Amino acid sequence: MTRILLADPDPRSQQDIASLLAERGYSLDAAPDLASALEPVREGAVDLILADLSLPGGGGMELLHEVQSSNPDTSVVLLSAFGSVQDAVKAMRNGAADFLGKPFAPDQVLLAVDRALEKTALQRENQQLKSALDDRLRLDNVIGTDLRMQAIFKTVQAVADTRTTVLVTGESGTGKTLLARALHQLSDRRAGPFVEVNCGALPESLLESELFGHVKGAFTGAVRDKVGKFEAAAGGTIFLDEIGTSSHAFQVKLLRVLQDRLIERVGATDTVPVDVRIVLATNKDLERAVHAGEFREDLYYRINVVSVEMPPLRERRADVQALAEHFLQRFRAEHSRAARRFTDSAIAALMRAPWPGNVRQLENVVERAVVLSQGDEITQADLPAALCNGALADSDSPAPEAAPKGPPLPLKQALRAPEKRIIEQALTWCSGNRERAAELLGINRSTLFHKLKKLGIR
Ligand SMILES: Nc1ncnc2c1ncn2[C@@H]1O[C@H](COP(=O)(O)OP(=O)(O)OP(=O)(O)O)[C@@H](O)[C@H]1O
Ligand SMILES: [Mg+2]
Repeated sequence: MTRILLADPDPRSQQDIASLLAERGYSLDAAPDLASALEPVREGAVDLILADLSLPGGGGMELLHEVQSSNPDTSVVLLSAFGSVQDAVKAMRNGAADFLGKPFAPDQVLLAVDRALEKTALQRENQQLKSALDDRLRLDNVIGTDLRMQAIFKTVQAVADTRTTVLVTGESGTGKTLLARALHQLSDRRAGPFVEVNCGALPESLLESELFGHVKGAFTGAVRDKVGKFEAAAGGTIFLDEIGTSSHAFQVKLLRVLQDRLIERVGATDTVPVDVRIVLATNKDLERAVHAGEFREDLYYRINVVSVEMPPLRERRADVQALAEHFLQRFRAEHSRAARRFTDSAIAALMRAPWPGNVRQLENVVERAVVLSQGDEITQADLPAALCNGALADSDSPAPEAAPKGPPLPLKQALRAPEKRIIEQALTWCSGNRERAAELLGINRSTLFHKLKKLGIR
């Protein structure tokens, strides 16, 4: 049901508008002053507000302001008996849907109400589209707005419901395990098990029986039959981590499973079919391992059907802020801290750090900062000194410039080069995303566009 609120102290106006809107089937709530108008607004229980410019306790403009910040998709029509053109212009500029001078003709009111409701509906639809878009920027709880991450999400979504083997490569801490879990969650196997095996951590002899199981008496110590991880993962996903370090003998067995989907328990004479999706991960360069003769070429081609390379964090600095904020929200709840946001300089320091440990390192730094934080802001002092020092001393920082000889250049001209450098740096940090770059630089988007053009930055 459409909920319309009239904030107007004049009982006659209340009556007139109520009867007009009743004809249209709209119900109207009336509020005689600002305070009583704000209540339903804060509860989000209003679709449209008609507000007089002169309200006791404040004014229509103040109400408009409040609505804009708390419920931006609610439209406001301002009314006034003494309205001037300037008032009307100001109202529209501040985001009012319409402005009506009193006394008004019934048609005028109805037209304004219809239009404003249409605007409300459009704004809500936009909002929904936008949040649907935001969902696409995330994959399960993997965060990444960087273009390379977006491409990865697309691939993962495309293959999720198939049984295709997926290989995830990337440096340690870039999110390989997280992505493998997300792939399982997105797939139609999500109700089945997700079984993780760290192939690098097990000695060769154990690995085989761990993965494929064994029969009683297969070797000393095999006192009863054991089901392997492959069988345990039936109907779900098996995630084989650190496959880059496995032995040749193991690679041969793995190749067999991939080819025939058959496993052989250690010591058994028969084979068992398994229905599993296989996801593999490694932080080694497998291609190089193949060239070096450490990894079987035939296996490499088998597992490299769909491969995803997680970029290191230093190559997607635009994600640092989103990740840091995601971790902040998580750890503030976990450690019951008041910290809600980072100061600008703290974010800048995070964005500049080299992150050799990738997202895992950032996660640890944020957790530590949340624990150390005193108030509701995380400052640079809450970050490890080494991180800030290392970051600030990196090669991006401008060297202190020697005092130029001769007469100085006109200021505007002299500032061109450093301005260009700073803007380019911001664009690099934000992977070319101009909106974020503008935010980082503290200027609005149109100013940034203007400067890009002026300074010849593409
Ligand atoms: N894109 C991301 N969004 C949110 N959290 C992330 C993201 N990438 C990584 N993380 C978090 O960072 C930590 C490290 O990620 P993960 O364990 O998946 O890395 P990895 O590449 O598997 O590392 P390793 O090679 O050491 O196994 C985890 O706590 C994970 O939840
Ligand atoms: Mg991992």
